[in-house]
Amino acid sequence: MIRGGARLSGQVAVSGAKNSALKLMAAALLAPGVSILHNVPDIQDVRTMRELVEHLGARVTFSDGTMTIDTVGVQSHVAPYELVQRMRASIQIMGPLVARFGHARVAMPGGCNLGPRKIDFHLSGLRQLGADVRSDHGFVEVRAGRLRGSTIVLDYPSVGATENLLMAAVLAEGETVVDNAAREPEIVDLCKFLVSMGAIIEGAGTSEITVRGVLALQPAEHTVIGDRIEAGTFLIAGAITGGDVEVDGVSPHHLDIFLSKLRAIGVQVQENGRRVRAWGDPAYYSATDFATLPYPGFATDLQAPMIVLLSMAQGSSIVTENVFVNRFGFVDELVRLGADIKVSGHHAVVNGGRALTGATVRCPDLRAGAALVLAGLVAQGYTEIRDTFHIHRGYERFDAKLRSLGADVERVGPSHSHNSGARAPLGIASDAER
Ligand code: EPU
Repeated sequence: MIRGGARLSGQVAVSGAKNSALKLMAAALLAPGVSILHNVPDIQDVRTMRELVEHLGARVTFSDGTMTIDTVGVQSHVAPYELVQRMRASIQIMGPLVARFGHARVAMPGGCNLGPRKIDFHLSGLRQLGADVRSDHGFVEVRAGRLRGSTIVLDYPSVGATENLLMAAVLAEGETVVDNAAREPEIVDLCKFLVSMGAIIEGAGTSEITVRGVLALQPAEHTVIGDRIEAGTFLIAGAITGGDVEVDGVSPHHLDIFLSKLRAIGVQVQENGRRVRAWGDPAYYSATDFATLPYPGFATDLQAPMIVLLSMAQGSSIVTENVFVNRFGFVDELVRLGADIKVSGHHAVVNGGRALTGATVRCPDLRAGAALVLAGLVAQGYTEIRDTFHIHRGYERFDAKLRSLGADVERVGPSHSHNSGARAPLGIASDAER
């Protein structure tokens, strides 16, 4: 429940990157023993991945952002449907398990709110490394002796496929080249962890990554990079409210295109070491077009928050979504708050300068959920956000961090239910009551 109108200002610490931590937890499966990860965000997806590695037989401790993963007891190689459908990133255990144990059985991920998300690149890559890949009864079964290095040219620089194949290739015999590899900072982070485990990898962060397989890896210790998506979300929170927010604990370089788009809109941006500050007056923001692309292009995960900012700017912006087909699903909810946005295929035209007014809205997915919270911060009156369990999958203490910047936001109902039945706190009228 948000009451709009507060200007957000102050500094906020960025948590560890969700999309790095999840893969590092999977990578820990590659070596027998205890790996230690620092700066792990305490979010639902991390808890789900913990459940999964524990289900496989690992022992995990987690406190104050430090996680230990003891893989000595790993005996199962099966990722059950219940966990995979809850979190698609569960499929990232496939590469490590088949590389170390010669076997992985993983439930096929089903439908997803972002549209059909296939795993064909993961599977064809594993086949090229010599694995036998079959599917039956809703599971993918991957078997191999020692994998054999190969040259794999990805049709598209898929983040997940690049990661799965790297984690498979590190223990393969001979050299693997992943061409048209994803270049996301989270890939570089994964490669650093793998190298500290004893892997031999060159070219991380470029589109051609070379891996020379080794016979075994050792457990290692690693600190997760800051979450560039969370950082971007808080910078927008400062900018849309006419406030002044500084995020601490992220590499500004990971946000290059995003920050240049903020500047093009008229937001003031200052970079300082591992801190970025954004401030400005929404009355002077102007429309800007952007298109999502694999890194270093504009991150699809910041598309929805950016649309909220553009709906405050004067003029019409064209937003093109090139990564996921269904990522404009939240637009209807934003329109309920008064935004003027038209979607046609993978383009959205955002007619800015409209005043938003509070209403009850529902989160369709994680990033869209965060975007709706941003919209609530500027909408006049109260906005009730339902299905906030999506947000808790990926943002650590989101409401508390927003409150620390001055936002008037309260968690008022169970966030895990699809029918949260969120109740207004005393004095706050629910949508139905208004
Ligand atoms: N694709 C295929 N075949 C494949 C793999 C991918 O067609 O075998 C397609 C997908 O359907 C999609 C596109 O390729 O249209 C990009 O998918 P990619 O594999 O790059 O994404 P991902 O690994 O499934 C990760 C993040 C996403 C983020 C994308 C793009 C994790 C756990 N997820 O997904 O994060 O949007 O990369 O950067 O790392 C989020 O955090 O909210 C989120 C969705």
